[in-house]
Amino acid sequence: MVKETVKAKIVVDKESQISEIDKRIYGSFIEHLGRAVYGGIYEPEHPSADENGFRQDVLDLVKELQVPIVRYPGGNMVSAYNWEDGVGPREERPSRLELAWRVTETNQMGTNEFVDWAKAANSDVMMAVNLGTRGIDAARNLLEYCNHPGGTYWSDLRKSHGYEQPHQIKTWCLGNEMDGPWQVGQKTAHEYGRLAYETAKAMRLVDPEIELVTCGSSNSDMPTFPSWEAETLEHTYEVADYISLHQYYGNRSGDTANYLAKSMDMENFIETVVATCDYIKAKKRSKKKMHLSFDEWNVWFHSNEQDKEIEPWTVAPPQLEDVYTFEDALLVGSMLNTMLRHSDRVKVACMAQLVNVIAPIMTENGGAVWKQTIFYPYYYTSVYGRGVALQPLVSSPKYDSKDFTDVPYLDTAVVHNEEKEEVVVFATNRHLSLPLEVNIDARSFEGYEVVEHVVLENEDVKAVNIAGQENVKPHANGESKMDNGNLVSIFPKCSWNMVRLQKK
Ligand code: AHR
Repeated sequence: MVKETVKAKIVVDKESQISEIDKRIYGSFIEHLGRAVYGGIYEPEHPSADENGFRQDVLDLVKELQVPIVRYPGGNMVSAYNWEDGVGPREERPSRLELAWRVTETNQMGTNEFVDWAKAANSDVMMAVNLGTRGIDAARNLLEYCNHPGGTYWSDLRKSHGYEQPHQIKTWCLGNEMDGPWQVGQKTAHEYGRLAYETAKAMRLVDPEIELVTCGSSNSDMPTFPSWEAETLEHTYEVADYISLHQYYGNRSGDTANYLAKSMDMENFIETVVATCDYIKAKKRSKKKMHLSFDEWNVWFHSNEQDKEIEPWTVAPPQLEDVYTFEDALLVGSMLNTMLRHSDRVKVACMAQLVNVIAPIMTENGGAVWKQTIFYPYYYTSVYGRGVALQPLVSSPKYDSKDFTDVPYLDTAVVHNEEKEEVVVFATNRHLSLPLEVNIDARSFEGYEVVEHVVLENEDVKAVNIAGQENVKPHANGESKMDNGNLVSIFPKCSWNMVRLQKK
């Protein structure tokens, strides 16, 4: 009996390029929030901890993900943070009320320790400054502390703390989600635009080599989106290199077909921000192109209710500990595809977050570490999605869902790594009951053959991974065949796939 399938087509050509992919789109985020830092990356009492207190079991998984850049220290937390609390002798550091998440912050980890951790993880640091309760002075002092070679108050203080060489942190965020009413020190677009501009000006005087990210809207549902972008960019266009985007999705109504289409909202968000940047560019008669830093993205909703039960002012409680399902991994795969298809403008992106807090990696205090379902699309796309993003011409049957029309069952992105003579197709089949048979015309890659077809599939869209029990994990038995530059792949119902081709 011939199995029923849905058919789709892709045409890819070596010459039809979107952009060289900036590897920083595979960045992530560690905030002083919940157990991300304490019990996540730093737990001196853990059997795997090194002399710095860094959990090696966690570091091994972070290294596996090949995370090129990690944003720090927040997030909402940065908007009331005094960076000076987190440097110098540990025993002298104050415990403070941390207002964003209403916990006690012990400051046992701070700027220097995070730089050490990032080095151990083979990552760069993306540092955020506090533009909520503080401003130009705190930002320029932190930059001087981090990046100035020596001979001044703040740079010599760093040296006295045991860091002779400057940290040379290149990428800096001018605050966090400053449009949000939940933010300590929320600003109007005008107030933020002026403050961000003046802070950027001072920071560039300290170190002209840095790159700056100006705050965009907290998400695409903000009532001030996209006028926030237009108004703030009026001030910051010439001093910033990137504008930030943040977005989290959830499946609160349990409607999987609609949920899997939410990457289309992300697509629309990116395109609207690009259009707004280009409008300001035209208005200013500027030659500069603004790039995008999608520096918070993920699924976040599972833990919302349980977080309401957490006692305030405790140290490192289990906040935002979403347990991810198989369907979350599918959406994460499509969100990564979306960023690859916009890699001409999205140059930095951070999966929020990295450990324990809405994260691909989970730990038990003193115990195990494990991979959540979303680890897998992140891992494969980060490791194999390097090179040039190609423009796939896709013809796919479509469906309508509650919030979206014309949702293609096939969501895909294609990457050519010239150096490795490798072509990689990433694909989500959004069809909940039928496999997709996809014909991929890749004639410009004649002589390439299939090396592996990795599939993430599961009969239960709500399947999860927990400590010691990995229910959702990929297999490499996907059906793909390359013949004379023509690839035929079967993407099982409701699945995420990676097909890797290499020159014979
Ligand atoms: O990542 C969790 C939180 O989400 C961040 O602190 C904030 O920037 C966003 O609202």
